[in-house]
Amino acid sequence: MTDAADLTARFGMDGRLEFTSPADGMAVADIKTRLCSARIALQGAQVIDWTPAGEKPLIWLSPAAKFSAGKSIRGGIPVCWPWFGAHADPSLPAHGFARTVPWRVTAAESRPDDNLTLVFELAANAATQALWPYTTPLQLRITLGRTLQLELITRNEDKREVTLSEALHTYFAVSDVRQVSVTGLDGGDYLDKVTGFDRKTQQGAVTFDGEVDRIYVDTAAECVIHDPLWQRRILIEKQGSDSTVVWNPWHGKATAMGDMGAEGYLSMLCVESGNAAHNQVRLAPGDEHRLCVRYSISR
Ligand code: BG6
Repeated sequence: MTDAADLTARFGMDGRLEFTSPADGMAVADIKTRLCSARIALQGAQVIDWTPAGEKPLIWLSPAAKFSAGKSIRGGIPVCWPWFGAHADPSLPAHGFARTVPWRVTAAESRPDDNLTLVFELAANAATQALWPYTTPLQLRITLGRTLQLELITRNEDKREVTLSEALHTYFAVSDVRQVSVTGLDGGDYLDKVTGFDRKTQQGAVTFDGEVDRIYVDTAAECVIHDPLWQRRILIEKQGSDSTVVWNPWHGKATAMGDMGAEGYLSMLCVESGNAAHNQVRLAPGDEHRLCVRYSISR
C-alpha cells in the first residue's frame, strides 16, 4: 500500500476525507464536506486550499507553486517554526524547518456539526535535531468547516528553557490587492523590513501600492481584510500571538522569487499571526504554548 492508501485506510471518511498522492508524489489530505473543501499537504502540514461551500477560495496557492520534497510550497499556510524570518546563522533556513519536513497524521475526527479536525505532529529526529537541538514536540490541530481554525501547540520536553519565534504564514486570496485594506492595526508599531527594520507607527488601515513587509509588534488585535470587489471581509481572530506580519512582495520581488506566477502578487496578501522580533516565546521546561487562529468570512 502507498502511504496515501494506508492513511486513507486508517483515517479516511467515506468521501469526506481521503489521502492522495498526486503525480508529484507529495501526499495530500483531500477534504470535502457539506461545509467546505480543503487540501492539506503532509509536508509542512500545510493547508493549501480552504474553500467554504458557495464561496471563492479563501487561501491563495500560487499558480506557479512547486511541490518538491524539502522545498516550501508558495501559498497556503506555511508553518514558520521554531524561528520566524532569517536566522542569525545564515546557513540555517529562513522561517525554520517545520514547513519543509513531513509531518505525521495522528488523528482525524468528524464532529456532529460536520466540522472536521485533523491532527498533525512533528517529532524531533536526527535531521531536525541538527537544526534545533531541543526536545519540543509540535502539534498542529486543523479544524475545517465554515470557519478554519488552526492551533499550533509547542511543548517543551527539554531540560532547558527554550526561546522560539513562529508564525502561521497565511496567504489569503483577494480580488486585487490594490483595492484591498487591512484594519485592526491602526496606531500600532511595526518594524518595516522594506526600510531596514525601521520602527514606525501605523496610521489608519494598511493599503497596498508597493512592497509591504512589516512585523506589527505587541498586538493581539483581530484583523479584517476588506475586499470590496469580492464583496467580502475576512476576519482573522487569534490567541497566543503578539505579532502580526503583513506581506506582499509586489512586482519586482515576486518576479525574482520565480514561483509566484506572472501577476500572482496582485491576487494575494499575507496576514500572519505569530510571535516575532521581541515577542518571541520563552518556554520553561514542561511548559506549553498555543498559537491559535480562526478565519471566517463576513459581509
Ligand atoms: C514574510 C517575510 O513573512 O515571508 C518576508 O516577512 C519574506 O520578508 C516572506 O520574504 C516570504 O518568505 P519565503 O522564505 O517563503 O520566501
